[in-house]
Amino acid sequence: MNSNDIVFDTHAISDFVGEHEVKALEAQVLAAHEKLHRYEGPGREYLGWLGWPLHCGREEVEQIIRVARQVREKAEVFVVIGIGGSYLGARSALDLLGHSLYNQLPKEKRGGPQIYFAGCNLSATYLTHLWELIGEKELVINVISKSGTTLEPALAFRFFRTMLEQRYGKIGARERIIATTGETGALRQLARQEGYETFTVPGDIGGRYSVLTAVGLLPVAVAGIDINAIMAGARHGCKLYDEDRPPNNPAYRYAALRQLLYRKGKIIELLATYEPSFLYFTEWWKQLFGESEGKDQKGIYPAGVNFTTDLHSLGQFIQDGYRNLFVTTLWLDKPPVDRDIPLLTEDMDGLNFLAHKTMHYVNGKACAGTIMAHSAGGVPNLKIIIPEMTPRYYGQLVYFFEKACAISGYLLGVNPFDQPGVEAYKNNMFALLRE
Ligand code: PA5
Repeated sequence: MNSNDIVFDTHAISDFVGEHEVKALEAQVLAAHEKLHRYEGPGREYLGWLGWPLHCGREEVEQIIRVARQVREKAEVFVVIGIGGSYLGARSALDLLGHSLYNQLPKEKRGGPQIYFAGCNLSATYLTHLWELIGEKELVINVISKSGTTLEPALAFRFFRTMLEQRYGKIGARERIIATTGETGALRQLARQEGYETFTVPGDIGGRYSVLTAVGLLPVAVAGIDINAIMAGARHGCKLYDEDRPPNNPAYRYAALRQLLYRKGKIIELLATYEPSFLYFTEWWKQLFGESEGKDQKGIYPAGVNFTTDLHSLGQFIQDGYRNLFVTTLWLDKPPVDRDIPLLTEDMDGLNFLAHKTMHYVNGKACAGTIMAHSAGGVPNLKIIIPEMTPRYYGQLVYFFEKACAISGYLLGVNPFDQPGVEAYKNNMFALLRE
């Protein structure tokens, strides 16, 4: 690893976990590594994501870029229909790597269509408001569902397909629908029958591990983001987080520390970020860890806070409330933009002492001060430092968390690649709907 890499900083944890404890867990981490890499652990049939950045074909990425280019030429609005792992990755990358107000920018500045999401709720209000906004604009949709049977995207797709067929006719609609789905299932069948442009979600890659496939890459490429660079970063991640064993592997160290904290009663992990563009990355991370670990009445509850905003709401609880949580701070060393604070001739707000310092400098002090305060208040803090938010670091970060999550799940003794609990509400809902 070099200094330009993502850094896992554990200096603030020493009051809570000793190095001897990390060392004592090393054999278990190694066993988890062996189990994963020898395809011997639970969920081994869903390990397609492991090393995927190295194995995924160039032609696949090129096809995504080619289709994205056509969408950029044709569409004024691009709607991504999907839920959970079928939208959170793309949304996180768009927010982190694009302009904060991408959809509000004039077309010349965007360079591509406006991008909206649907099928991630059951709200007719949201759908209707989205339609009102789309109006007569040229529309292309990407329906993403690995199973092809998930209710929320299936219903949204019904509405959008009907709308497209009414507007463009059956043939015109076909040219404006891209389906990203599994090798079999209802959506695959329909796509075949209608001749939609189609991308395949590999059968051995679960939804929450699919951001580096067409599921995440196509919407991101439509926004003009360099997906080759994302994959290069992820490949670098494979090198760092697959090849190194503990104690040198930062992903394994993160997995080990969060499990040690969990064993000490820290059952909630807050992912804390200091740029609002991380909001959906946090959502992606919550799904990754929540769905992977929360089973068999075990698991760390993954939650997110967006600082400094949430320091004015949840800050009190974190500092002073029930002591069952720890924080992992995701710190961006160099934000895309920074600004000098202006000097005022009349120092009415008393903040002239900050003049000519930058906003990011202040944000950095807020972060350091918060970690100090929370540590003193009995909240362990881990920190992940990202040098800057480029497509390359995005890809590396995704792989870091995917790898850490798999190892952490095995340390916890669960199958990190299934999600049996999700079925419970669905069974009830469908039973009630059929009554
Ligand atoms: O991680 C998962 O498997 C789930 O969260 C799915 O991504 C989500 O339920 C959507 O499933 P599908 O892509 O089959 O519509």
